[in-house]
Amino acid sequence: MGNNIWSKNVQGILMLDLSREIRFRDDRKDLFLNILGLKEGMTVVDVGCGPGAITRKLSNWLGDKTKIIGIDRDTTFINYAKEKAKEQNMYNISYLEGDALKLPLEDNSVDACMSHTVIEHVPNKEFLLEQKRVCKPNGRVSVMCARPNKYIKTEPKLLPKQSEREKKLLDKLFKGTDEIFKKYNVGKYSVDPVELPTLFDELGFKDIQVDGIAIPVAIDDARNSYKEKVIIVETQKEQLLEVVSMGLYQNKSGLSDKEEKELKQLIEERFHKRLELIKDRKYIWDYTIFLLQVVSGMVD
Ligand SMILES: C[S@@+](CC[C@H](N)C(=O)[O-])C[C@H]1O[C@@H](n2cnc3c(N)ncnc32)[C@H](O)[C@@H]1O
Repeated sequence: MGNNIWSKNVQGILMLDLSREIRFRDDRKDLFLNILGLKEGMTVVDVGCGPGAITRKLSNWLGDKTKIIGIDRDTTFINYAKEKAKEQNMYNISYLEGDALKLPLEDNSVDACMSHTVIEHVPNKEFLLEQKRVCKPNGRVSVMCARPNKYIKTEPKLLPKQSEREKKLLDKLFKGTDEIFKKYNVGKYSVDPVELPTLFDELGFKDIQVDGIAIPVAIDDARNSYKEKVIIVETQKEQLLEVVSMGLYQNKSGLSDKEEKELKQLIEERFHKRLELIKDRKYIWDYTIFLLQVVSGMVD
C-alpha cells in the first residue's frame, strides 16, 4: 500500500511543514475554523495530510475532545507525522496510510473532511465522492486549493538577487523535472474556479460555499518578532536546500560534486545577505500574498 512518491520526488517534509506553519499561523485560527466549519468535539479528516502540519494545528486549535484523522498514501510523511504528534503529546490525532480515492474509513463515520492542495493531483469527482461517503449527514467537505496565478510578489531593489550562476546551476539540476511531475500526476487535475463549486453541486452537496483566503508572507511585517523574521528567512533557505537535495536524488549526475558545493554555497551566501538586513533593522518589503480558494459543501 505505502509509497514514498511525493516525499522523494515532489516535495519534502521541510518544504511542506515549514510553509504550512507560516500559512496556518495561529493568528488566523478563527478565520480557518469558521470557513472550514470546524468545531470542538468533531471528528475531522485531513485527506492527503502530508507530514501533518495542518493536523497538528487543528489538534491545538480544537482541543482534546476533538478527533483528528490524517490520511496520506506516502509512508515517509505518515511515519514523520506520527512521530511528531507523539513528541508533542498530541493524543487526539491518529494517522492512517491510505488512498484518498479509497479512504480507510466507514460510511457516515466522520463530521468533516478537509484537504489542502490535494484535489489538483487526483481525479476530482472520485476524490469528493469518497469524502461524501465517509461524512455523516450534515457533515462538511471542504477543499482548499492554491490559485498560483493570483499572486502579489515584490522584488525590491535591495533584495539580494539570485546570481546568474545560481540560476544556471539550478536549471541544470532541474532539467527533466517536468517529466517526473507528469509521471506522478502533479497538478494534472487542477480545477477551474467555476468548475469546482459546480462539481459539488452536481455531486449532490448542499449549502455550497465559496471562500478565498489571502495569505501574506512578509518578513518585515511589524507583527513578526526579530526571531520570527530570522526563522522565515532560514525556512526559505532550508526549503531551497531541500529542493536541491531532492533534485540530486532524482538526477544523480545532474551536477558534479564541485557544482553541488558551489550551488549550496551561493544559496547560503544569498540568504546570509538577507539575514544581515534583518540584523541591521533594514526593512526592504520583499513579500508575497497568494490566494487560497476554499470551496465546501454539506452532505445530505
Ligand atoms: C501538495 S501535498 C499537500 C500535503 C498537505 N495537505 C499540506 O498541505 O501540507 C499533496 C499531498 O497529497 C498526497 N496525495 C496525492 N495523491 C494521493 C492519493 N491518491 N491518496 C492519498 N494521498 C495522496 C501526497 O502524498 C501529498 O502528501
